[in-house]
Amino acid sequence: MKIRTAVIPVAGKGTRFLPATKQTPKELIPILKKPMIHYAVEEAVLSGIEQIVFVTSSGKTAIEDYFDRNLELESFLRNAGKSELADQMKELGTMIEVTSVRQKEQLGLGHAINCAKDLIKDEAFAVILGDDLVLNTKPVTKQLIEVSEANEGSSVIGVMEVPSEETYRYGIIEGKPHDNDPKTYLMSKMIEKPKPEDAPTNLATPGRYILRQEIFKYLDQIPRGVGGEYQLTDAINAMAAEMNVHAHIFEGDRFDTGSLEGYLNATVEFAMRDPAIKETMIKICKEKLNAYSN
Ligand code: G1P
Repeated sequence: MKIRTAVIPVAGKGTRFLPATKQTPKELIPILKKPMIHYAVEEAVLSGIEQIVFVTSSGKTAIEDYFDRNLELESFLRNAGKSELADQMKELGTMIEVTSVRQKEQLGLGHAINCAKDLIKDEAFAVILGDDLVLNTKPVTKQLIEVSEANEGSSVIGVMEVPSEETYRYGIIEGKPHDNDPKTYLMSKMIEKPKPEDAPTNLATPGRYILRQEIFKYLDQIPRGVGGEYQLTDAINAMAAEMNVHAHIFEGDRFDTGSLEGYLNATVEFAMRDPAIKETMIKICKEKLNAYSN
């Protein structure tokens, strides 16, 4: 079955980016000229997704507005002779269908995804966590959709190898690799944020999932888990006990833009990858290095 919908949770307060996030949703903080959430939605569009469900909270309506048309701005730009920019704004406002649902209490990622239940109906769907950006010619969500299609529409968790001292920051999977595809695992277990000594592997998810709609049954059943929150990981673990769930080591460069260091790294890297500003970026970096190294 075609994966048409991606759920993107955006209800978080973004406290790590205060005061910038006091009035502006964290997801709208830009990396170069695009807000962070734009990259996640672009990944969805390039993966063939047709609808985004944002799981929001109060103070986040600017995210939906961002993906809507702004006719006043478009006509202002056209009247000012900036038709190319007006076309870009029109394209942005029509790039994908957006709906949203409120998460009224912040009770964890599992709870956030469960809020989208009534909008998903009976279909498998993707989950994209916008704090983690993954760049690749074939978007990571598309890679996971293909693995799902090759495995009778199973749920698929995108994973990457992390240093073992970092397992406590992620959902970690355990499983057996396929004989004919060593990057795809049949998952036996998923554990939320284990200490290195308790982690079965160092295969971690940075927040990319294809989930069959049965996940909602498990989300309804799980108790509160790590941190007192309803963990998506626990529901996936329960699902893996009853049906095939795969994990796939995806291709791509991942940036953890939820931290200041990761955000800086992504900003510099994205500038380096943009032919229009690469030379300027190199010049600035060289000048700063000269000025500040002793
Ligand atoms: C969530 C998930 C975790 C995943 C992580 C990726 O945790 O619960 O399994 O590895 O996102 O960023 P959070 O970072 O929201 O605590």
